[in-house]
Amino acid sequence: MKELLHSLLGTLTGTDPRDIRHALKRDHDELLELAEALCEGSGGANRRQRFDRFRELLRAHSRSEERTVYRALQRTGAEEAKDFANEGEVEHGSVDALLAKLSRMRDLDSEKAHAHFQVIKEMLEHHIEEEYGEMFGLLSQHFSAEELAQLGERFESAKGSLATRHRKPLAREEATA
Ligand SMILES: [Fe+2]
Ligand SMILES: [Fe+2]
Repeated sequence: MKELLHSLLGTLTGTDPRDIRHALKRDHDELLELAEALCEGSGGANRRQRFDRFRELLRAHSRSEERTVYRALQRTGAEEAKDFANEGEVEHGSVDALLAKLSRMRDLDSEKAHAHFQVIKEMLEHHIEEEYGEMFGLLSQHFSAEELAQLGERFESAKGSLATRHRKPLAREEATA
């Protein structure tokens, strides 16, 4: 993972700060950090807060990534790009299912919850590694610098509108859990 990060930083150096890959990397960094913390020891109220932030960010990131990057890759018509996007969506769905199970658990410090956090962290690391190792290259291959900047702007605005729209449903879901 560290080697990949190094080569990734090399790839991104000097690119337009609006390039979508910068925004994706910022989210990935925070998600990996939160997943790591959720796998460690107990944390009481902190743990619940961290989980809420993790769940909210992961949902906003996944949906916005699907609607902008994955959709753009599918539209290229290139087999490799379409396969990557289709498989990525399936992986997002698997993590969503585990998150939904965790959302229904009262005790986030239980052994069962810990096992779920561990599996989610491993799936996340694998998924992000593939996005750096394959998707970032596909983006360079199929899109111009200006198109990557436009994708970045669309990604940020999709995330913004999801955050506003999800505030109420999330509160409802917690109330019935
Ligand atoms: Fe991602
Ligand atoms: Fe993804």
